[in-house]
Amino acid sequence: AAAPIGIHDLSFATTQYALTHATLAAHNGARVAKYHQGIGQYAMSVPAADEDVVTMAADAAAPVVARHGADRIRTVVFATESSVDQSKAAGVYVHSLLGLPSAARVVELKQACYSGTAALQFAAGLVHRDPAQQVLVIAADVSRYELGSAGEATQGAAAVAMLIGADPALVRIEEPSGVFTADIMDFWRPNYLTTALVDGRESISAYLQAVEGTWKDYTERGGRTLDEFSAFCYHQPFTKMAHKAHRHLLQHCGRTVDEAEVTRAVGLTTAYNAEIGNSYTASLYVGLAALLDHADDLSGRAVGFLSYGSGSVAEFFAGTVVPGYRARLRTAANRTAIGRRTEIGYDRYRHLHERSFPCDGGDHPTPNETTGPYRLVGLADHKRLYATR
Ligand code: CAA
Repeated sequence: AAAPIGIHDLSFATTQYALTHATLAAHNGARVAKYHQGIGQYAMSVPAADEDVVTMAADAAAPVVARHGADRIRTVVFATESSVDQSKAAGVYVHSLLGLPSAARVVELKQACYSGTAALQFAAGLVHRDPAQQVLVIAADVSRYELGSAGEATQGAAAVAMLIGADPALVRIEEPSGVFTADIMDFWRPNYLTTALVDGRESISAYLQAVEGTWKDYTERGGRTLDEFSAFCYHQPFTKMAHKAHRHLLQHCGRTVDEAEVTRAVGLTTAYNAEIGNSYTASLYVGLAALLDHADDLSGRAVGFLSYGSGSVAEFFAGTVVPGYRARLRTAANRTAIGRRTEIGYDRYRHLHERSFPCDGGDHPTPNETTGPYRLVGLADHKRLYATR
């Protein structure tokens, strides 16, 4: 039989700054309980002026390359919906910052928050064709809504780097997948806007419709039954969405919904996202990191994954946790990535939110703010310049 394929390593990075929901609530007059209990969010990551998806991605991927080397990486797939260029793949900057071999292909993928999963599945296909190669999958995003909008409380930022290969150390990705597409305008960002547009209620119902659609396709293709799963990782635009989605799946399957059962299934996946906020493509895999870091031994257990990208495309698939995985986790580094952020006040956040580069082709250095390993040095002659700090 062919060797199993899956996630061999997983690392994530986030930003220099964090805005708490207590600070946001004090500014906009909302009850903080709406954020803490209602949507399940406590803080959101805010990029410094010299951080973006590229710096976060390089920060996330560097430990993976340090642990495994880059000799077998022939492909880098960068998934994002907050791209920095309409033509050049952000992954090319990461390839350069990390000194990856020139004998590699690098490409960027987009379909809202779903494209991290597309990258993972395409990577699995490449590894199936050539089991000796590894694919570096990066999912990185900065979630931005307009100041004062309902979406503002669901912002955040993070990058996940995953090494996909044969005989993985963490999670084996199984066939089949259940897939679902529907043309819905629930969330989108036209090229001329820097913040996303969203119909909040429509987006939640579109997500739940996709849960049903993917599950239907998954079961029709002979997937596992509900009771075979030990936990479920859902895309988390806000952490309570994972609860809503799982409750919906149980109801759809004709189960009586027991809240304790919902919390058992998704509770451990939300620990990091509650502090980071929505990281779009990365969010599902930040959820996986939280599950692996906090659960009792999951060796040999099946985990369900529901990836949702507005617009909308979704996929449900299963993964089996590989015995021995605990020795390969990055729990301390993950906690440090969240804990090292500096809490900022509303005015500083607002200033960063409103900041943008002039489009005049001039020299625009960025202030030296991040204490992370990579920084966006600035823009000159319309070119983004990055450096190791
Ligand atoms: N104490 C406890 N709970 C409270 C509360 C209080 N004082 N006040 C309100 N709540 C609860 C509400 O009952 C509600 O919970 P339920 O949905 O379970 O009823 C929750 O807090 C939120 O309250 P509202 O619905 O009134 O909040 P809102 O209208 O201001 O906006 C939102 C919520 C629609 C999620 C908004 O933040 C938004 O538009 N976010 C962006 C879109 C989004 O994240 N959509 C998710 C699906 S799309 C997707 O997944 C793709 C993606 O990444 C964007």
